[in-house]
Amino acid sequence: MTATIIDGQAVAASIRARIKDEAAALKARTGVVPGLATVLVGDNPASQTYVRMKGRACEEVGMRSVGHKLPATATQAEVEGLVRQLNADPGIHGILVQLPLPGHLNEEAVLNAIGIEKDVDGFHPVNIGRLAMKGREPLFVPCTPAGCIALMDHVGVKIEGARAVVLGRSNIVGLPVSLLLIGRNATVTVCHSRTRDLPSVTREADILVAAIGKAQMVRGDWVKPGAVVIDVGVNRVDDPTTKSGYRLVGDVAFDEAKEVAGAITPVPGGVGPMTIAMLLQNTLRGAKHKAG
Ligand code: GUN
Repeated sequence: MTATIIDGQAVAASIRARIKDEAAALKARTGVVPGLATVLVGDNPASQTYVRMKGRACEEVGMRSVGHKLPATATQAEVEGLVRQLNADPGIHGILVQLPLPGHLNEEAVLNAIGIEKDVDGFHPVNIGRLAMKGREPLFVPCTPAGCIALMDHVGVKIEGARAVVLGRSNIVGLPVSLLLIGRNATVTVCHSRTRDLPSVTREADILVAAIGKAQMVRGDWVKPGAVVIDVGVNRVDDPTTKSGYRLVGDVAFDEAKEVAGAITPVPGGVGPMTIAMLLQNTLRGAKHKAG
């Protein structure tokens, strides 16, 4: 059996087209143009690329994007001061502080400083706390986890009652995606570096979400036949046949897993484009909320 390849690029493109129409309608009705502020501290090349892609995606759907760059030596007070200035800016509906921050900065304090009504990353403890609690609604859901669920919904995966295994417990992906799956009534197991006999756990999964950051760690024989495999990993591996000398692979050995899974996301072109689509959706939501 060969798996259905879930085309995140196509799903994200249709979401972006809808957002573009909705942003235009919001502008026509209220004069409000959704605005996203990105904050990049330091010069991590991957972060620079991500922030550039996020800014460009905003402009393509008719939103305003304002990029703020601070040097790697920026102080805690400078970063928090910028966040507070953006909180007070009526033209900004979403604030995104790109992570990771340089090691000397207190990430928790920076994320706490973002007003929850502009927290389009959904990383503020109040938003995460609401996501974790039954019967509470966060204002925003983190973008990559929301993108994973949106892809599964798009291909009609039945999440309710499914056994879901999440590899990784990061604040950005593993933890919030686990909370979303619990909220959708899956039975969720969260695995991490101390989990014993990982393959025996993953083989039980109807839904397997890999977010561990290890290139092609999940082999074909770790996957239950017919399972849905969502690969969040983005890892560089050397490849002298490419111009850059590397290529991107996921946390899953795609060629093996696609022979076993029922559906699988590729890397690139799976979850990645969905992260940006969900960020645009959150920014539009912030603007609509502000516009009443
Ligand atoms: N670093 C890796 N992923 C993300 C993300 O979704 N948002 C932010 N702010 N930083 C990240």
